[in-house]
Amino acid sequence: MASQKTVLLIMGSTRAGRICPRIAQWVAQIGRAQTGHAFEIVDLADWPLPMDDEPGIPAMGNYVQPHTQAWSAKIRSADAVIFVTPQYNWGYPAVLKNAVDHLYHEWRDKPAMILSYGGHGGGKCADQFRQVAGAVHMKLVPTSPGITLPEGVIRQGAPFDPASDFQQSLPSIRAALGELAAQINPVSAS
Ligand SMILES: Cc1cc2nc3c(=O)[nH]c(=O)nc-3n(C[C@H](O)[C@H](O)[C@H](O)COP(=O)(O)O)c2cc1C
Repeated sequence: MASQKTVLLIMGSTRAGRICPRIAQWVAQIGRAQTGHAFEIVDLADWPLPMDDEPGIPAMGNYVQPHTQAWSAKIRSADAVIFVTPQYNWGYPAVLKNAVDHLYHEWRDKPAMILSYGGHGGGKCADQFRQVAGAVHMKLVPTSPGITLPEGVIRQGAPFDPASDFQQSLPSIRAALGELAAQINPVSAS
């Protein structure tokens, strides 16, 4: 059995009333059971990264702010990352772009997966994020699951149960997690 690796689930939403944590927890649970790796949820609300306090460009890596240094260490320590992100106005949330843009080399060759959600699965947001992931040379897995939210969840904040309401997305989530595990551990994965 291969050694246990650390997979970070980075949540793209920090807004009040968000549903992102419920989705991230559900995916983490599936991932743990499927791969045996450690899945840790990262809430960007706990990582305030001001947009204007680093004098250098991230590609130079000479961070002066302790929060940027800490964020750099956090991403460096991960064996893989999963971006769990809602679609906002056909794109992905600004807080997620800011978190990516704070770093550069840390993302290179990092096995990564995008899981989007929205009224139609958030595919437009995944497409945009894929471009950015390419710019920083992440090792994105080919499958990007997209969870379609019921209208009542979006409009009225209706209660939902991921296990039953999102079961249609389960095969693609499992496929993407399998691809991610293979990227982390190419020798032992089959
Ligand atoms: C600013 C904003 C923009 C949105 N734009 C879209 C959109 O383009 N497509 C879509 O399907 N849903 C859109 N929605 C609805 C979200 O899919 C829904 O509110 C979802 O719960 C957001 O995730 P969160 O609760 O984790 O923040 C938008 C919601 C917000 C707050």
